[in-house]
Amino acid sequence: MAYCLSAVFKLSWLSIGNNVSSHRFNCDVFFVILNVIMEEPQVSTRQLLGVLWTHAKKRKGMMFLIIFFVIFAQLGDIVHPYIYKLFIDGISKNHFSLVPETLIHQLFIYILALVGISFFSWICWRFSAVLASYFVPLTITELCRSMALALFAHSVRFYQNNFSGSLVKRIFRIGDAFDDLFGALVWNISGLVIALLGSFIVLYLREPMIALVLFVGTLIMVFLHFFYSRWKMKYDILMAEADSKSAGEFSDMITNFENIKLFTGVQHEKGRLKKVQGAWSAMAIKTWQLSEIADAAQAGIVIIVEFVLLYTALHYWRIGVLTVGDFALIQGYFMTIISKTWSLGRVIRNIYRAIANGKESAGILLMMPEIRDVKGAKPLKISQAQIVFEKVRFGYQKGQTVLKKYSMTFKAGKRYALVGPSGSGKSTIGKVLLRLFDLQSGHILIDGQDIKKVTLESLRSSISVVPQDPVLFHRTLMENIRYGNRDTTDEEVIEAAKKARCHEFIENLSDGYETYVGERGIKLSGGERQRVAIARAILKNAPILVLDEATSSLDSESESLIQEALGELMKGKTTIVIAHRLSTIMKMDQIVVMEQGKVVDVGSHKQLLRKKKSLYRKLWEIQAGGFIGG
Ligand SMILES: Nc1ncnc2c1ncn2[C@@H]1O[C@H](COP(=O)(O)OP(=O)(O)OP(=O)(O)O)[C@@H](O)[C@H]1O
Ligand SMILES: [Mg+2]
Repeated sequence: MAYCLSAVFKLSWLSIGNNVSSHRFNCDVFFVILNVIMEEPQVSTRQLLGVLWTHAKKRKGMMFLIIFFVIFAQLGDIVHPYIYKLFIDGISKNHFSLVPETLIHQLFIYILALVGISFFSWICWRFSAVLASYFVPLTITELCRSMALALFAHSVRFYQNNFSGSLVKRIFRIGDAFDDLFGALVWNISGLVIALLGSFIVLYLREPMIALVLFVGTLIMVFLHFFYSRWKMKYDILMAEADSKSAGEFSDMITNFENIKLFTGVQHEKGRLKKVQGAWSAMAIKTWQLSEIADAAQAGIVIIVEFVLLYTALHYWRIGVLTVGDFALIQGYFMTIISKTWSLGRVIRNIYRAIANGKESAGILLMMPEIRDVKGAKPLKISQAQIVFEKVRFGYQKGQTVLKKYSMTFKAGKRYALVGPSGSGKSTIGKVLLRLFDLQSGHILIDGQDIKKVTLESLRSSISVVPQDPVLFHRTLMENIRYGNRDTTDEEVIEAAKKARCHEFIENLSDGYETYVGERGIKLSGGERQRVAIARAILKNAPILVLDEATSSLDSESESLIQEALGELMKGKTTIVIAHRLSTIMKMDQIVVMEQGKVVDVGSHKQLLRKKKSLYRKLWEIQAGGFIGG
């Protein structure tokens, strides 16, 4: 957010202006489309403007006031040269010694008028600037917030397919896009339109031919910029993509800093960087050079227009139509228009780039989340917390089958251990139960209610999860534990921490519960993080518990602490433990043996061992040292 806000103060401000359609982005449209395609939609310019307008219109009064002040401020550019012309005509007609008092008086009024207009413009600019200093940052903040909220609604698959670095960049890009578009349209384009129309009218009244030369010359420049920038847009889009890709790559490297160190991968990463950055810089050079070509062409046109304009003016002066003051007038308008069209190339390119960037970001807003509540979804009502898997078929990707007709009943209040070889689909069971992914076929029922037909919020709040490798926020331990139930008091958090056997290690930290745990909880050991996750689950106190047991070699003290903590947690809950440790497996009521996405055996430890050819017995014999599967 800090970056987002700082972008605002670049002061390349504001608006989508009047010409933006008030089209609201309509999620239902995408609902239909995305039932078929789950990829990000191609965002049209109209949809992007719709998204920006939806956020800007919350302060539309402020926005129109800004536009109003900017228009008045820029009218000064038209009136000022005209008064200057009158002033010069006044002094050029008379020799100083012959100047009558009345003319002196009139010239003095012109000077006052010039100062007055400058002052009026100054006031209008200040008002618009002050209003914009509220309007732009507040709108950008809301855009970024909407982006972040839209991101949270997306599925696990979405996150798996996108680098976090790129996503962060895309959040802020929509703010930048708004900033650039508003700035370009309100400050630059409106100024050019007013200068062009105003000067055309005034010059037309003096001499139509002069007005025509200036008008046609300016139009040639405007069209050149417009069509060239439009043609160049495809390169700007490629540039934005290259930018996102390199940000994603950087972010992946930074996340994997440990791997880079452990596997002495600096040289290797340098090679990868060279490739990604190479693609980026090739694109940057290309787009930069294309911009330079436009600038060069514009400079040529300016020289030609100036020549034709002055030549024509000279002719009309010679035949007595134009005065000396008219030269000042023509020159004043010419300079104003040139200064505004000179930057027009950059302004149009900024607009296109902002549109390209904004489209890249708005896809996140417009894409319907893959996993969402169905129409008329009701909250899940838990009575017993019995879970039934009915012929569940599931794969993460097309053509992949991880769970094959998986059928199993997890009875209310019982403890189940899922065991089986690595990759047999144990963790997947937890993921589909939480509806992090949807099934290809079959049903999962909790107390007779299909999880697909209940609200995601009620489903997920009924299940506590302790993941294999818990990730924590870089927030205090107090906040991290309280995340399990954000309505709890400090005392309740500490109570849960005690039950999860993490109070002691937290107390030994210099800042205790106020200790920050580092990104993803990196400053804690694996066992400590897992106990924090257990404390969270205790606070959440959901009727169903899914526990993906860590296989990392915890020392026996940590392991027994975790076992104690788990014992507390499982009390009275329907528990599914993806179990690797013998100590855990033996405590469970039932053991579910899985192989290649199917249930191959169910029973107690003793029952399963009795079966001579069972997979469980085989696993047991191979790893009698205490671990099974994984
Ligand atoms: N996000 C994913 N995208 C694609 N395939 C995946 C994904 N997650 C898991 N898989 C695949 O699904 C299969 C089952 O994975 P799962 O994580 O359920 O195995 P597991 O039984 O928990 O293994 P382990 O004991 O090693 O944790 C594996 O073949 C795995 O490669
Ligand atoms: Mg697993």
